[in-house]
Amino acid sequence: MTDKMLAPGATIGIVGGGQLGRMLGVAAAQLGYVTHIFAPEGDAVAAATAQHITHAAYDDMRALGGFAGQVDVISFEFENVPVDTMRFLAEHRPLFPPVNALAVAQDRVEEKKFAADCGVPLAPWAEIRSTAALAAAVADIGTPAILKTARDGYDGKGQARVDSRDGAAAAWAAIGNGRAVLEKKIDFSGEFSILLVRGQDGEVRFWDAPENRHVDGILRQSIVPAPRAMADQIATAQQHAQRLATALDYVGVMACEFFATADGPLFNELAPRVHNSGHWTIEGAVTSQFENHIRAICGLPLGSTALTGRAVTMDNLIGPDADDWAAWLGRAGAHLHLYGKGAPRVGRKMGHVTRVEAA
Ligand SMILES: Nc1ncnc2c1ncn2[C@@H]1O[C@H](COP(=O)(O)OP(=O)(O)O)[C@@H](O)[C@H]1O
Ligand SMILES: [Mg+2]
Repeated sequence: MTDKMLAPGATIGIVGGGQLGRMLGVAAAQLGYVTHIFAPEGDAVAAATAQHITHAAYDDMRALGGFAGQVDVISFEFENVPVDTMRFLAEHRPLFPPVNALAVAQDRVEEKKFAADCGVPLAPWAEIRSTAALAAAVADIGTPAILKTARDGYDGKGQARVDSRDGAAAAWAAIGNGRAVLEKKIDFSGEFSILLVRGQDGEVRFWDAPENRHVDGILRQSIVPAPRAMADQIATAQQHAQRLATALDYVGVMACEFFATADGPLFNELAPRVHNSGHWTIEGAVTSQFENHIRAICGLPLGSTALTGRAVTMDNLIGPDADDWAAWLGRAGAHLHLYGKGAPRVGRKMGHVTRVEAA
């Protein structure tokens, strides 16, 4: 044990109360840590795997101070926690990944500027703050294109397609006329994500990159390994992702989404946290993304990211998909995960199923 290691028995504070926090809690418990969740929602599904929960608003300074006083290290599982909240917490306790990674990932304009500064290729894009800027950007980038809110988008929300110059104003209105980015619609051969973990000593490990299939902007399925045809693009994208992680002085698990195109990989976005396209690692890798995130933030040596089988498929159970949960129990080799959410609303991630093909 070295100075930097946080010994089991210590308390890990996690800001955010969703399924990512719930699965981090399982991994933390396996290693003997205590988890304390901070979440505003009364029905936070992460509470089920945590010993302590603070239900309070993200700007409740008293509650934040109390939380910081009861934990030994802090991380977050929700991407839209206010940056000021995390800065405040970082003044009191070690916080991983760094606040700057959150700030960059929260804002598509900052994220794209940052990636470009790191020499990572992106789809053509422009920042939109006015009708004039929108018209100029559509003329420059062309159609079809996609308008995305600069902040608060997830699972394809806050996006509108622009199919013609005339349709641009209506598309912007459909996402609220706020600060946005216009992006060229990319004719990709597929999508994949780079999943990496970076330790406090700067060591980086990659899991096999999954190919990701989205339906209506929501991840539907991840398949590992990605098709052989994507191998070169994945190797290049790993270098891009590592540059981003190094520039952020990142600690923990980070995911970067890429489009595979005829001209090589284009960076889409990064998540400064464990990611849905890495859920397969619970059964499909020697060390899961959740365990390696806990290891990294606690200063422990990182675990092997090798596959446990020949191939892995992860299917999300979205909305009413979860009604069939019992059927999965009868399928050999299927690992069912349910997040304990109440009503299976359309578009809501209720659980997932992982299948590992033996080597
Ligand atoms: N420029 C684009 N060209 C083609 N498809 C896109 C583009 N941007 C987004 N998409 C599709 O929409 C999905 C969700 O978009 P993304 O920007 O990743 O938003 P979110 O934050 O909601 O995940 C992508 O995974 C991809 O399938
Ligand atoms: Mg995405």
